[in-house]
Amino acid sequence: MSAHIMVFDSGIGGTTVLEHIQQSIPHAQYSYFMDNALLPYGAQSQQTIINRLCGLIQFIKDESLNVDLIVIACNTASTSALSAVRQITDIPIVGVVPAVKPAAQITQSKHIGLLATPATVSSSYIDVLIKEHASTITTSLYSSVELVTLAETFFFTQRLDIEKLHAELSRLNINNDIDVLVLGCTHFPILAKPISDYFKARIELLDSGAAIAKRVSSLLNFSDNQAGIKKPLQYYATADICSDKLAVKQVTLFDPTLSDKS
Ligand code: DGL
Repeated sequence: MSAHIMVFDSGIGGTTVLEHIQQSIPHAQYSYFMDNALLPYGAQSQQTIINRLCGLIQFIKDESLNVDLIVIACNTASTSALSAVRQITDIPIVGVVPAVKPAAQITQSKHIGLLATPATVSSSYIDVLIKEHASTITTSLYSSVELVTLAETFFFTQRLDIEKLHAELSRLNINNDIDVLVLGCTHFPILAKPISDYFKARIELLDSGAAIAKRVSSLLNFSDNQAGIKKPLQYYATADICSDKLAVKQVTLFDPTLSDKS
């Protein structure tokens, strides 16, 4: 039997992680869940994100989806809600960790940047990550909500407002000493090429998609990697998507603060 892996994000960003997982485990069954009713998560409170993930667990249960593993392919949700959600389900959950450790290992200039959402860069999780893995180098933090919006539009329309992108990158004013920039939001790899072009390939961009795929593989049994009959990738979203690029089923997430359903 193929394993059923559900990949979750606030929007389309998690597909950058999904692609890596599909490459290393092609025979698994996949669902992709976007909580786009609350996009961007970077502007939501920690409690709201925890409630939404509790709603996701309830949804999986109510729909009898038989999910074997959940990947929270969202740095914002992983840094703020992972431990809380692990307490309410037995389904193994893999979160995303910004690639600060590998960036610290390869930087030549001893100065790296972390580009993520406002919620991620201000989380205590990031403080700890930097103290543990990048204490001997300089790490500069940059946050952007605009890049999430640009990545969503680019994915669905194939159109990128390059002026807006350059204006945002110029506003961020990335320090010239930085030679490695961690893309700490799963939406940002969608813009990797135009971001790299903006910096004239002077800065190496690092994301954690490949590392997450490795982690997921290590948690599955050998038999989960075997070919078998599997359903096609099912997309779920909590709000309408103005695109015919994907066949998406629109669903509602239960909010634990509005009901006593358990
Ligand atoms: N893709 C999400 C992340 O990795 C966040 C985008 C958002 O702000 O919703 O942080």
